Amino acid sequence: MTKTDPLVLFMPSGKRGRFAVGTSVLDAARTLGVYVESVCGGRATCGRCQVSVQEGHFAKHQITSSNDHISPIGAKEQRYASVRDLPDGRRLSCSAQILGDLVIDVPQDTVVNAQVVRKDSDGRVIERDCAVHMCYVEVEEPDMHKPLGDLDRLVAALAADWKLENLDVDFHLIPQVQKILRQGEWKVTAAIHRDEATDRPRIIALYPGLKNEAYGIACDIGSTTIAMHLSSLLSGRTVASAGTSNPQIRFGEDLMSRVSYVMMNPDGREGMTLAVREALNGLIDRVCAEGNVSRTDILDTVFVGNPIMHHLFLGIDPTELGGAPFALAVSGAIHLKSAEIGLPLNAGTRVYMLPCIAGHVGADAAAATLTEGPHRQDDMMLLVDIGTNAEIVLGNRTRTVAASSPTGPAFEGAEISSGQRAAPGAIERVRIDPLTLEPRVRVIGIEPWSDEPGFAEAAAEVGVTGICGSAIIEVVAEMYLAGIISEDGVVDGAMAERSPRIEQKGRTFSYLLFDGEPRITVTQTDVRAIQLAKAALYAGIKLLMDKQGIDHVDRIGLAGAFGTFIDPKYAMILGLIPDCDLEHVKAVGNAAGTGARMCLLNRGYRREIEETVSRIEKIETALEPKFQEHFVYAMALPNKVDAFPNLARIVTLPERTLSLEDASADNGGGRRRRRNRDT
Ligand code: FES
Repeated sequence: MTKTDPLVLFMPSGKRGRFAVGTSVLDAARTLGVYVESVCGGRATCGRCQVSVQEGHFAKHQITSSNDHISPIGAKEQRYASVRDLPDGRRLSCSAQILGDLVIDVPQDTVVNAQVVRKDSDGRVIERDCAVHMCYVEVEEPDMHKPLGDLDRLVAALAADWKLENLDVDFHLIPQVQKILRQGEWKVTAAIHRDEATDRPRIIALYPGLKNEAYGIACDIGSTTIAMHLSSLLSGRTVASAGTSNPQIRFGEDLMSRVSYVMMNPDGREGMTLAVREALNGLIDRVCAEGNVSRTDILDTVFVGNPIMHHLFLGIDPTELGGAPFALAVSGAIHLKSAEIGLPLNAGTRVYMLPCIAGHVGADAAAATLTEGPHRQDDMMLLVDIGTNAEIVLGNRTRTVAASSPTGPAFEGAEISSGQRAAPGAIERVRIDPLTLEPRVRVIGIEPWSDEPGFAEAAAEVGVTGICGSAIIEVVAEMYLAGIISEDGVVDGAMAERSPRIEQKGRTFSYLLFDGEPRITVTQTDVRAIQLAKAALYAGIKLLMDKQGIDHVDRIGLAGAFGTFIDPKYAMILGLIPDCDLEHVKAVGNAAGTGARMCLLNRGYRREIEETVSRIEKIETALEPKFQEHFVYAMALPNKVDAFPNLARIVTLPERTLSLEDASADNGGGRRRRRNRDT
C-alpha cells in the first residue's frame, strides 16, 4: 500500500488501513480483522455482509467519506436487492469496491428474511466471532477420471473458497454427504465449528443449497431459575427468551440440601440430572416456538451455572462439593456435543461450558465477571451474586480474587417467620417513621403504598401474605434507623412504651409490620437470621479486601435476581456491602446470562474468561483465620469497626454505642467486646 491509497476506517471497531482502489470492502475488513459476516463467500446472495457509508468530514480521523468514494451499485447488488430487501444506504461489502477514503459502518443487527426479532433484554451489542460459521460452496461434480470421493471434493472446495485447511468432519455426516450434495445440485452450505485456535476446523452440519441461518442458545442454570436465550449466530440478535423454575427444587430448596439428597439417595444424582435436562428441553421447545426456529438449526450452545448446577447438568456427582476441600471434578472449560448430555438438537450441535473459578464459585460467577469486566478496569470493582451461597469477585486489571460466603437462605425469605418469595402479596418496600414508628409498605401487585388511597381495596383483593427479600433488608435497616433495634440488632423493649407495634414475645420483642391476616411481624429471631447472613457475606468481602490490601472499593455490581431488586442504599445501611459512592453501586441484572451470550456470539470471550479464571486467586473463606473476626464485627449494623463515610453523607445513621476508636483499639489489642450478642 502507498500513502496515497484510500484510507478506510471501520466503525464501531475503529480499525483503519489503506487499500488499493478496487479492493472490495469485505476484503479490506478481513485484512484488518474486522468481523463482517458472509455465508455465500462473496457471491452477493446471502446479504449477510451489509455495511453502510458514513458521509462527511471526520476531522479526528482526517477522512472525508462519501458515497462517491465507493463503487456504484452493480448488477450483483441489484439482483440481490430485487430478490431480498436491501435497506436504503446499505451496500453488500463483497460487491462494493473502494474508490476513495471511506468511513464504513458495520451494523451489528443485519436482519435477513425479516425474521421476528426483539430487543435484547440488556440492549448490549456483542461483536460477533462465533465458533460456528456457515460456509456456502459449489462443489465439483464427480468425474470418472478423478477418483476423489464426494466428501474430498467438498473439503477441497471449502479449502479453496474459505481457506479452511486441515478440515475434519463429524462422522455422522459421512453417510449423508452424497445425498445432501446431490439434493443441493452440488451447491451446499457447511457449518464449520472452530473454537480454540489450536483446533482443527470441523464440518458439523451440511445443508443442500444456501443455508442462510443458524442459531445458538445461551443458558444460565440457576439453582432457583433457569434462563435461556435463543440467538441468531449470523446477526447476533436474540430471537426468543424463556425462563422456568429449576425443577430440582423438589429435591431441596438450597444447594446443600440437593447435595445431601444425592448423598442419601442411590438414584439421587440421576434424578436431578434428568430433571434439569428435561427442564432445558422444555425451554428449548419454548424458545424455538417463539422464534419460529427448528431445533436442528441450533448449532451451538453455551451453559453457565454454579458448581453444583454445573456438575448435576453434566451428570457429575456433586458429593465432593458438599464439604472441604470442595473439590470440583473438572474446573476448566468443557467442550462436548449436545447429544452426549441428553439435549437432542442437531447431531453436530456443540456445547461450551465456561470454567468454574473454585469449588463454590462457579461458571456463573465467571460469566458475570466476563460481563462486568473487573479484570478490564483500573477501578477496584466488587461483584457480588447473592444467593444461598454468595459468590464474590473483587479485582481490577492487576489482580482479581474470588470467594464464596455461606449466606444461607435468609435473604430469599426462608428462616424468616413471615418470609416468602417475591410474588403478588409479598411486601417489597418498607419505610418506618422514626417519630411514630408507624410503617408504610409497598406490596407486589398493589400500586399504591399502604398509606395511599386505594391500598385497602387492592390489599383485600390481592392479599398481603409476607415479606420478600428486598423488604427483609429494608425493614431491618429501617428498624435500625428508627431506633427500634440497636446496632447490635436487639429489638429495644423500651420502645413498647412508644408504640403498640413493639410486642413482647417471651424474653424478646418483635415489630408488627402489617396488621392483617396473617399478621406480619419481624421477630428478634428474624433480625438475628438476617444479621448472620449479612455478616457472612460482608466477612467474605472483607477477606478479599484484605487480600487486595484495600480499605474501600471503587464500584460495586450486584448480580442476580436478588441484586436487581434490593435498594443499594438499604444494603449499605444493613452493612451487607461495604461503603461506596452510591452512584457507583448498581444492579447488573443477569450478568451470568449475558456472559453466556457473549461466549456464544464471540469465541474471543471464551479465551478471555479462560485466561482470566486461570489468574483469579481463590480464597477459601472457611480456612481463613480472620473470617471469624470479620464476621463478629459484621454482626453489628452497619458494622462494628468499619466506617461508612459515603453512606453517612446521605443518611443520618444512629450514634454508635461503641465508638470506632474503641472498637479499633479492641481490634488492635486482640480483645473483642461482646455485648448483647447472645440475646
Ligand atoms: Fe454474501 Fe456478500 S457475502 S452477499
